[in-house]
Amino acid sequence: MKKNKNLKWSTWPKYDKKNFKALKNTFKKNSLVAWGDKKGLFKNSTVGKLEKKFSSFVNSRYSKGVGNATQGLHLALAALNIKLGDEVIVSVYSFISSASCILMQNATPVFVDIEKETLIPSLESIKKKITIRTKALIITNLFGYAEDLSKIIKFCKDKKIFLIEDASHAHGSFFKKQHVGTFGDIGVFSFNERKVLPGGDGGMIVTNKKKISDKLYRLRSFGDNDLSYNFRLGELNAAIILSKLSNLKQEISLRRKYSIKLSKILGNDLFLKVRLPKKNTSCSFYRLILEVNNKISKKHIFNFVNYMRRNKIPLNFTWKPLNIHSHFNDKIYLVNGIKKSFILKNFKTKNNLDYKNQKYPVAKDLLTRILELEIHPPLSSKNIIHFKKMVKKFLLANNLNTYEQKII
Ligand SMILES: Cc1ncc(COP(=O)(O)O)c(C=O)c1O
Repeated sequence: MKKNKNLKWSTWPKYDKKNFKALKNTFKKNSLVAWGDKKGLFKNSTVGKLEKKFSSFVNSRYSKGVGNATQGLHLALAALNIKLGDEVIVSVYSFISSASCILMQNATPVFVDIEKETLIPSLESIKKKITIRTKALIITNLFGYAEDLSKIIKFCKDKKIFLIEDASHAHGSFFKKQHVGTFGDIGVFSFNERKVLPGGDGGMIVTNKKKISDKLYRLRSFGDNDLSYNFRLGELNAAIILSKLSNLKQEISLRRKYSIKLSKILGNDLFLKVRLPKKNTSCSFYRLILEVNNKISKKHIFNFVNYMRRNKIPLNFTWKPLNIHSHFNDKIYLVNGIKKSFILKNFKTKNNLDYKNQKYPVAKDLLTRILELEIHPPLSSKNIIHFKKMVKKFLLANNLNTYEQKII
């Protein structure tokens, strides 16, 4: 049988002539490093231009380009003077960088469980873990979905703890018209080429506070009395990102269109539900989240993901809970070789650091059932129909037809 080429799912990233031209123009400047300086020359660099543009895009006073979001998160904690003995609360459901950055500053990660509806920590779960050592909270705006952080923001202000948003997935995501990443003290974005605004590699830190911005500037490029780094964003990467920024809105609206179509075509499906963004929000759709019915066995879900992948549909599991990650369970526990026993002895805390044996029931349950679908433009109606057909075929082949009854 002839294979239909139109059924090929779209891949990402897509670089085009405009990006090549931007690279060429940057080469002409004869310097590919945005060196820091005190005379404002930095502003003429491509990184400087991107920072300005990004600030106006997200409506944040200051933006600082870095090599990637992992460096950005690390630098954010350094700029806030998070150090040995300090505790930082972070969701157990995120990418490793959201929590490994805490180890990089020799501070102690304290995990919290997530809320079923939002996939971010509830205020109640945060309250249970707060101690006098808590200095910051890191919230990840997962997959670009924007959630209401107002209670968390108020709590952080009352308790005088910093709020850092890991907005690595959320370029072009808004909650009530405010860009995600600008609600807390610092927001961090990733331009890794899998992200919706790709630049090979790259990251951006945003803040509205001048003191933090100045400290970030100095720490980024060997400029502070405190331990400083080379975490600079390259000029070529900045050129690609800058030239891609103008496409972002249109690409997001296409992602939204496909997501709504998929949601409609699955209708009241009992097997698989699309999580569409909430009212008053707009989502970057870095990934579309699908949730499998909790009556379906893990084995079936695993087989389903593999089946879809064999049929060239980029559906995947997201992550495992971070508390079981090896970074938090080695005997030598912090980056400078400090042992966990040292922390327990010298920095008494009510929080238990036996990460591996901690229980996060909501994350544990949801993470086996939450699937991420790549939804990059361009996709056709044929792709969406093919998706539905594949679901139907899988259900029939596995005697799960009762879950299929409502598929249109
Ligand atoms: C939530 C989250 N934070 C941070 C990062 C790290 O980004 P980068 O690759 O730019 O370091 C990622 C990467 O996928 C991520 O998903």
